[in-house]
This record gives sequence, C-alpha cells and structure tokens, in this order.
Amino acid sequence: MLRDIIAKREKALPVSTIGALLKIAEENKKVVSLGPGEPDFNAPKHIIAAAKKALDKGFTHYSPPEGRRDLKEAVIRKLKRDNKIDAKPGNILVTTGSTEGILLTLMCTLDDGEGVLLPDPGFLAYKPTVEVLNGLPIPVPVLEKDNFQYSVDKMRELIIPERTKAIILNTPSNPTGTVFKKKVLEEIADFAVENKLLIISDEAYEKLVYGDARHISMGSLNGMEDYVMTLHSFSKTYAMPGFRVGYAAGPENIIRAMTKAHIFTTLCAPTLSQVAAVAALNGSQEPVRKMAREYDRRRKYIYRRVNEIEGFECVKPEGAFYLFPRFTFRMKSLGFASWLLKHAKVAVMPGTEFGKFGEGYIRFSYATRYDRIVKAMDLVERAVKRIKK
Ligand SMILES: Cc1ncc(COP(=O)(O)O)c(C=O)c1O
Repeated sequence: MLRDIIAKREKALPVSTIGALLKIAEENKKVVSLGPGEPDFNAPKHIIAAAKKALDKGFTHYSPPEGRRDLKEAVIRKLKRDNKIDAKPGNILVTTGSTEGILLTLMCTLDDGEGVLLPDPGFLAYKPTVEVLNGLPIPVPVLEKDNFQYSVDKMRELIIPERTKAIILNTPSNPTGTVFKKKVLEEIADFAVENKLLIISDEAYEKLVYGDARHISMGSLNGMEDYVMTLHSFSKTYAMPGFRVGYAAGPENIIRAMTKAHIFTTLCAPTLSQVAAVAALNGSQEPVRKMAREYDRRRKYIYRRVNEIEGFECVKPEGAFYLFPRFTFRMKSLGFASWLLKHAKVAVMPGTEFGKFGEGYIRFSYATRYDRIVKAMDLVERAVKRIKK
C-alpha cells in the first residue's frame, strides 16, 4: 500500500461542493436542473457531419502542436472580422478547450508567489489554477452595486505592486452574465499598462450577448496587443464542449512559450475536433444566431419570473446563459441550494462556488429547455412561499 501518495498540491485543490448536488440531480429524474454551465443544444449538424467525414478520412493522428494550419487560418480571419484583432500564425495556439488556454497562459507567465487579480465571483477554475502553479490569487470583489462590472479602484487597493503579473478578465461573465462596457475595459487597460500587467481575457461566451449589449475584445483596444492574451472556445458558441477545442491569441513570445508547454500537457488539441472547428468557423453562423435567440428568450423569461418571486433580487444579465440573483432568505448559499434541491426539486449552483463574494447568491443556468425552465420557476415559486420570514 502506498502511503501519502497524493501530493499536497492536489490536496490543496478545492472540493467542489456542487459535484455532490449535481450527482443527486442527475440520479433523481424528478429534479429539474438549472445547474450545469453547458449548452443543452447538440453541435450543429454541419459540424457533426464534418467530424464524421474526418473520421472516415482517417484524421486519427496527432496534429502540429500549435494547431492545424487550416484552423489557424480560419481563426485569424475570424479574429479580424469579429474581434477586430490582427493576428499572424505566430500569435495563435490551438488549445484543448479554453481551460487549457488558462492553464498554459498562467503556467508560462507566473513565477512562484506572483499575484493574479481575478474576479470574485468568477469562473471556478481561475483561483485553483493560480494556486496549483504556486501563484497568489488576488480575488477582486465584483459587486452587484457596480452591476457586477470590474472595479479598477478595488484593483488599485488590492494589487501587490511589483509582485502582480496578470489580471483575469471574463466578459461576458460566468456566473453573473455581465457584459463589460467599453469604458470599464479602457480603465482596466490603462491600469494594466500602468502596472505592466498581462490581461488574460477569457471570452468563452463572446457570441452570447443580448439586447443592446455588445461584446468588445480587450485585445482590440488601441495599443493593447502586447498586453492581452485572448482566450476563445468552441464549447459555448457552437455547443461543442465535448470536442475540447479552443484557441489563444496573444504576443508571440508568450504563445511560443505556451506551445512548448502544450507539448508536455496535451501535445495537441484533438485533431478530429480541430477539423470540426474549421467547419464551425467557415460554415454558416446562422445556427449560432439561432441558439443565441433562444437563450435570449429564456433569459427574458427567467429574469421576469425570478424577480416576481418574493425573496429574490436580480440584475438583468446581458450575456452568457446565467442569472445570478441575490436572495433574502435566512440561509447561506450552499444551504439554500441544498434546500431548493430537497424542497423544490430544482438544482442550482450556490454563489460561493464562484468565490466568497458569491455568498447570498445562487446561479441559475438557462442552458436548459424552455419548458423545463418554466417548470423550475413554478417549483421554486411554490417552494419558497413555505419559507418562514
Ligand atoms: C468563463 C469560462 N471560461 C472557460 C470555460 C471553459 O471552457 P472550455 O470548454 O473551452 O474549456 C468555461 C466553462 O464553463 C467558462 O464558464
């Protein structure tokens, strides 16, 4: 029997409390789940067809570590057209999902003890990834009173000068559904330049923006090309999370370092998925618009319903597929999520899963069929009426 085989590094990783909740939700067919952050849609048909064809043609081999040439060319065209970012092949690395993009960027830029400013609440991989690399996460509270926009004043208070290397920015944001305004992005850009910080811009939800909101890539702002690593994903835009493919676009020296590290992490993103990704970028974008229209319909509905239920208050989200309401019931986030699962048979994510400033909130995902959302809202409304004030 091996003793003490598990490394301290692993032991320090957080145990995801939601894992257990979601397992219950999956096993109990009566539960309506608004938990997971992945599209309920399958990938569009032409993308599946391209993947099938690629299999038949024998695309079962490794690809160049930096990514297939046809995919990089398609990415360069897309970055110019949609993100107003000028890139050359040396600025691009195809990754195994943007999760690997986050890991590689941090792995190649952070030395021991160096700080990274990151949003709290924010996507749950950021903090553990910084920690596992012996970096210092510096959570920046992202508050409802600021409409969940990043506050540069807060960053100024929290930064450890000389020892902070990067800022993680996520717009549209998980879990709050916030789309960052140009003015806020410009303030962050000035702050980054002033403090010589790399901005890691996670734009996984770039195509899921609604109403008058517009997605702006930090890398498109004047003079920012040397300061930004932009991370993109096929998971949300094209409903391809299981394909595990994304890309990073940034300064050539960082991309070169990441490509070297990538050889030792995953070697290359799955070849089959890269062929499917070319079909996604070069094919019709109508399926993307259609999915976004359906998310928008659900967004309007769930926002209205949640605000009508006494005990919830909510900022109207403008992007991604999440609603992040505050609740006034006398429970903690995790307790309330467990309570909803037990009494309403609805699975949600506790806000604290995304950081300590998520306390008092829960996250509803509307990447679930419309009729299921209607049912979930009826169940939540009925159940919370029973809570004594
Ligand atoms: C903000 C954010 N970034 C990145 C990811 C990971 O995406 P990928 O499937 O590309 O690794 C997620 C997934 O939920 C996310 O919410």
